[in-house]
Amino acid sequence: MKDIHSYWAYLVVLFLIFAVYNAVTGFTKKREFTDKDLRIGLFTLIASHIQLLIGLGWYFMSPAYKALKMDSATVMGNSASRLLAIEHPIMMIIAIVLITIGWSKHKKKTEDTAKFKTFTIFYGLALLLILARIPWNQWI
Ligand code: HEM
Repeated sequence: MKDIHSYWAYLVVLFLIFAVYNAVTGFTKKREFTDKDLRIGLFTLIASHIQLLIGLGWYFMSPAYKALKMDSATVMGNSASRLLAIEHPIMMIIAIVLITIGWSKHKKKTEDTAKFKTFTIFYGLALLLILARIPWNQWI
């Protein structure tokens, strides 16, 4: 489970970087919003939701959660264990909520530029949160 979570993370981060790049360039160059742009947003949404399920599944069997249950004061007092048990899961959930809001908001926009702008804001914020709270020192 941990390995799947670790490998799937590459897909999520790469999709998200590409989706944000695509949205920013679409917005600044005032491109037409096509089926390709829709699919880039959709695949990113699906990949992140799958990661949410894998993450939740792994969380409750992870050493980080077991340690939190046994001795929460020690886990909270240590920045490395707090990252794995609390900060990473919460930030990733918030990021995926932002991606989901961005996806549903873009559908209500009628102008192409507004669609790109919505993706830029919501997917962009999600990317920042994810990059800020990935446990980099044990990944890659
Ligand atoms: C966009 C979503 C997410 C991304 C990109 C992501 C990415 C990662 C990465 C790269 C690692 C390090 C893997 C390694 O050690 O090789 C990790 C670890 C972990 N993730 Fe996530 N994650 C996401 C969502 C979640 C969610 C929603 C949860 C739980 C609710 C979660 C729980 C964990 C836990 C517990 C670990 C620590 C594994 C360990 O060392 O025991 N993740 N995640």
